[in-house]
Amino acid sequence: MEFYLNSRFIWVLLFWLFILTSCKNEEKLIKEPIKTNVEYQMYQPSEMAGFMNAMYAYNLQLKAQIIAGDQPSSLPLDLIKLHSAEMSNGKSRTQNWQNFINVFIASQEAVVDTLSNFEIKERYNAAISNCLNCHKTECTGPIPKIKKLMIQ
Ligand code: HEC
Repeated sequence: MEFYLNSRFIWVLLFWLFILTSCKNEEKLIKEPIKTNVEYQMYQPSEMAGFMNAMYAYNLQLKAQIIAGDQPSSLPLDLIKLHSAEMSNGKSRTQNWQNFINVFIASQEAVVDTLSNFEIKERYNAAISNCLNCHKTECTGPIPKIKKLMIQ
């Protein structure tokens, strides 16, 4: 009995030793690639950053069409992706994001609503204002670039 207990104790000890050392090994394995990846991550935008840039390009094109007197009616971007797209490291959907996102989506969809009673320029500028409203707290870097999207 005593022998049985002792050997079980040793097995448990060996088991934990194995777990502890294997965790350490894993940490090393995970840490090293991250260090070398830092440079890559700077050049590789997150899914969300990529989508934001697509929204920027889309609105730049809308602006040109509206100034030219067109009534654009297509919205080729799937705005629902804003709810699922992965953000850059360390960023997450804050309360502020949650407050602004649906208002923004509705206003961006309203730009191409050909039945609206509001002038297209007003609807477009309202959508861009909503980009800015969220950016004031979530990601301030692109604000000057987004401001240039406004139609004066
Ligand atoms: C609800 C909040 C919110 C709204 C609305 C919003 N953005 Fe963003 N935007 C963000 C966040 C957060 C990031 C950072 C994403 C990341 O780094 O993963 C970002 C990033 C960006 C970037 C930088 C992408 C890069 O290369 O790093 C641009 C440009 C941008 N947004 C433009 C726009 C435009 C144009 C609109 C409106 C058509 C808009 N955003 C609407 C929150 C928002």
